[in-house]
Amino acid sequence: MRKRTLLLASVAAAGAALADGAWSPRAAMRDLAIPDEAVLLEQLEEAIELRRREEFDRFLDARDPGELIEHATLTEVDFRHRTLGVDTLFVVGDELFGLLVRPENGWGGGGTDRAAVDYAPALNRVHRGAAGGPDAFGCFSCHSKGGPDGAGMQTQNAFLAGDGERLGSADQRNPPHLLGLGPIAVLAREMTAELQAHAAAAVEEARTSGRSVRRDLSAKGVLFGAITAAPDGTIDHSGIDGVDRDLVVRPFGWKGHQATLIGMIEESLHIHQGMLSMRIQQEVRDGVLDGAPYGRGERWFDLDGDGVTLEIDHGMLATMEGYLVQLEVPVMRAPRSPDLLDLFAAGRNHFAAVGCAACHVPTLEIQSARYEVRPVADLPPFVIDVAADGEVPKVEPKYASPKTPYLVHLFSDLKRHDMGDELASPAPQGDIPPRMFLTRPLWGLAETAPYMHDGRAPTVHDAIARHGGDAAAARDAYLALDERGRAALRVFLTSLSREPKLFIP
Ligand code: HEC
Ligand code: HEC
Repeated sequence: MRKRTLLLASVAAAGAALADGAWSPRAAMRDLAIPDEAVLLEQLEEAIELRRREEFDRFLDARDPGELIEHATLTEVDFRHRTLGVDTLFVVGDELFGLLVRPENGWGGGGTDRAAVDYAPALNRVHRGAAGGPDAFGCFSCHSKGGPDGAGMQTQNAFLAGDGERLGSADQRNPPHLLGLGPIAVLAREMTAELQAHAAAAVEEARTSGRSVRRDLSAKGVLFGAITAAPDGTIDHSGIDGVDRDLVVRPFGWKGHQATLIGMIEESLHIHQGMLSMRIQQEVRDGVLDGAPYGRGERWFDLDGDGVTLEIDHGMLATMEGYLVQLEVPVMRAPRSPDLLDLFAAGRNHFAAVGCAACHVPTLEIQSARYEVRPVADLPPFVIDVAADGEVPKVEPKYASPKTPYLVHLFSDLKRHDMGDELASPAPQGDIPPRMFLTRPLWGLAETAPYMHDGRAPTVHDAIARHGGDAAAARDAYLALDERGRAALRVFLTSLSREPKLFIP
């Protein structure tokens, strides 16, 4: 299933509107527009052609169950034997994202006898601990609200780490949208490098000077506490704030538990669809990973015992990665009418004044737009430019020249914060305590209700009112505004949206 969308506004205009910062009221000058006839016709033809192909595919699938995954699969073998471009990664990754995975492809961990009535494994809405569901047949089953690769509604929540039966036993999570993940991955990479360089410098200085050295850990202007290095090379981590001891910034998941997109994809395929990657199976075989969450199959290459031996190899993970990093980024679309525009401008100021911007940092800069996707370890990587390749709109350079840095208007500091008892998860997630959450990026917000990690907040107002812990002061400052002030802030937040496109289902 490839997505078919009609772009409803000039993308060049969208870019210009954001070029001088997330705060530019020039964004307000844009509006929906019907593309000119030639463009429209071309897009319609493409949509109809895709529709035809999809219908044909359905018949093929009825005849040969499970064969469709062929369109959505590039294995390591394909990468070795064919010369492919980053656009192929996008197209095939798109198919994989939209595919309804079937038991024949390794969905879940069922039996091997295709003719048996109960051969397909059962759906499991509530995850069984780290083993997951499976709770869905495709990625788009949960990531589709507001447009392709979007967020999820309340009914699409995932019930993580439960007892397999009771909803109340699980750690409930609402699916976030997946736009702009390429620039976010680059941001995290650059921030990690900066933090680790501070630590290395502190260790080096302590060693040469022979005394303890305390050093602030800041990355792109965000402060992650401090570390103290002793002359013998040991590090005191107790002053670190909002990041793990290894100083790796983990920008994915509501708790910020995953460092890389590959990791997030591999985890998603496993817990939502029961699809096991080759890497997981190899690590269980080699005793590096505990095999318990992955099944009890006798053969290492079919750990979930469903008779499908190659479910996900590295080439397939890389294809999905190459797709996700090329997705569009959200944009700011201010209202048109003059009175709403006034509110928008006031709300933009309130956002900083009441303290939201301390965590939801409007803009962070990336120094490089280069993202490497490596389907096969010993072959050169695909080099994706997250400011140019794939869907539009994209992140924009800060200056006309030189090209770097690029501005990422994500509204997050990519740091974890204590959000108080009311929001706390039922249990720690790995080493992340229950009350700690990553500042959720707010770009794209308008299209992603309900809000907060479990979708408990139906509106933006409720989302703010549910903030606690380190965000309590900002919440109270918002609630203390008069009604016009609160409205202004909500209008501003509602401008954080995505490029208008007509989606043809
Ligand atoms: C049952 C619903 C569901 C399905 C199916 C699903 N996801 Fe998700 N996805 C979620 C939830 C919930 C989260 C937040 C997870 C967390 O907090 O750890 C998430 C988070 C993500 C993220 C991190 C986004 C961010 O900004 O933090 C990525 C990437 C992702 N999913 C990709 C995928 C891919 C690829 C697939 C298909 C293999 C998939 N998802 C299938 C529900 C789903
Ligand atoms: C101390 C850091 C911090 C401050 C200050 C803060 N937030 Fe948040 N915000 C977060 C975190 C962390 C989350 C995710 C928490 C969760 O879902 O449990 C979040 C979530 C949100 C969400 C929901 C996003 C979504 O996709 O569901 C909105 C809206 C939001 N914040 C707006 C605001 C506004 C407006 C302010 C100022 C009044 C503010 N925040 C102040 C950290 C902060």
